[in-house]
Amino acid sequence: MTDEATETGPAVAARDDDWWRTGVVYQIYPRSFADSTGDGYGDLAGIRAHLDHLGPAGLGVDAIWLSPIYPSPGRDLGYDVSDHGDIDPLFGSIADFDALVEAAHARGIRVVLDLVMNHTSDEHPWFMASRSEPDGPYGDWYLWRDPAGRDRRGRPRPPNNWLSWFGGSGWTWDPGRGQFYFHTFLAEQPDLNWRNPAVPAAQLSMIRGWLARGVDGFRLDVFNAFFKAAEMPPNPRAGLHRQAWFRQRHLHDQNQPELADFLASFRAELDAVPGRMTVGELFGGGAETAASFTTDRHLVFDFVLLEQPWSAAAFGAAIDRVELAFGPERWPTVVLSNHDRPRHASRLARSVGERHRDAVAKAAAVVLLTLRGTPFLYYGEEIGLGDIEVARADAIDPPARRASWSFPWWNRDGSRSPMPWTPGANGGFTAPGATPWLPLAPDFATRNVEVESKDPDSVLATYRRLLRLRRELPALQAGSMRRIPARHRDVLAWLRVEGEAVVLVVVNFAPLDVAALLGNLPPAQGWTVAGGTHREGHAELGRDASIRLRPLEAIVLVRRS
Ligand code: NOJ
Repeated sequence: MTDEATETGPAVAARDDDWWRTGVVYQIYPRSFADSTGDGYGDLAGIRAHLDHLGPAGLGVDAIWLSPIYPSPGRDLGYDVSDHGDIDPLFGSIADFDALVEAAHARGIRVVLDLVMNHTSDEHPWFMASRSEPDGPYGDWYLWRDPAGRDRRGRPRPPNNWLSWFGGSGWTWDPGRGQFYFHTFLAEQPDLNWRNPAVPAAQLSMIRGWLARGVDGFRLDVFNAFFKAAEMPPNPRAGLHRQAWFRQRHLHDQNQPELADFLASFRAELDAVPGRMTVGELFGGGAETAASFTTDRHLVFDFVLLEQPWSAAAFGAAIDRVELAFGPERWPTVVLSNHDRPRHASRLARSVGERHRDAVAKAAAVVLLTLRGTPFLYYGEEIGLGDIEVARADAIDPPARRASWSFPWWNRDGSRSPMPWTPGANGGFTAPGATPWLPLAPDFATRNVEVESKDPDSVLATYRRLLRLRRELPALQAGSMRRIPARHRDVLAWLRVEGEAVVLVVVNFAPLDVAALLGNLPPAQGWTVAGGTHREGHAELGRDASIRLRPLEAIVLVRRS
């Protein structure tokens, strides 16, 4: 689609308790947020101590999503869970968790947990029982299969060609059981057998336990991989690609139709009490696949926007693709960074030059907070935090440790560095003499919450202003979306419409002054700039719909009628 107008029609009708449609969610990577004990790892008490940064006195987000906090051997840093019903001592105790929920709720912040239900740790009691007792009650809880014969050296052959996203075959041989088990990720993360009804039943019972503790919702890790084709046929070949994963079409190891039934029963369970959100993390696939699993009660991440370079052409095409895929009846999510990808301040600055990092971070914040959909912020993006460099030899991220020419892998340590709170030792993340589990960003002495709080033009101050503006303008929260032409290759413009209220957003993607000419504007006496990347000095929108923008300037205008 081009610059010409695209319209998504009326917004999805929200229920009163569907805060997750209009709200903003903030992702916390608990290892990296704030350490209260001085062991170098962030923890729950650390998060509690910093809630004012997130609550109405600070950013004013509606919810925090915590990446996994359950007991785990830590092979995939918490995404390998050995007990879904407890708290890893690294992060504190169940009493710390209850205290966090209470303190968050007292500030109007909901708490969303990360549910890892596709797989468990190989140290989970379910897997240990499954492995040791094939005929026992857990024998069929994982994806065990006999070998497909033996190779010439007599070694068992994997049952099919399915792969691990973390490199190599997805099958690991278990000599004790004399069978292979399947794992989409590490061998230490065996996939559960979702076709055994005891598995979803156990998950729902675990979920009830967290709901009873006051949890407000869940992010479902790789939810579209839960079900695999029952007969496990081989995946068909795709085209040539350096990475084996992309040399096959993942027809049978994800996106199975049975998922919809589980999601319906899962949502029904949650809907017993109003106000609980769920968001599925899409594993592979684009906006179209994300939309196909989105319902009026369930959000799905798509990462189309997150994969774009900083250009009006790329963002315009991505926005149109998402709008077309979701249509007016489905509600999208908007994400620019998370714990698996390079941070967008670093990533997007590559398109325009590192010296524009803060300016790009601010303009990207306008995009994130004004598009149709629920925005997800990743801790640190509100101060323009960038990626850290970690030498391959020091990599902690497990797939990064086995990266090679044929298995290219970006080291996810890069986007998981400790949050800098102050200019002091260790950025106030941990005790002055302690060793943080990952290094802080090299610019932490100037790029931290304390310093940016004092600067009205900082990235943080801009986030706070934009989030306030979003709260004040219901059209930005729930309105429909229509792109309008801007007649300039570096400029995008869109309208958000809610009843009589119309908000106009104009973004200059270039680090240069531009003059744009907007088309298809609804009738108005005039437009007033309500906010944007810069605090002052905005150009007026001319009567002829022309507008001048400064380098990387983005503005939000409201209609004077
Ligand atoms: C997706 C998570 O976001 C990622 O961090 C993790 O490694 C995999 N799922 C496996 O759980």
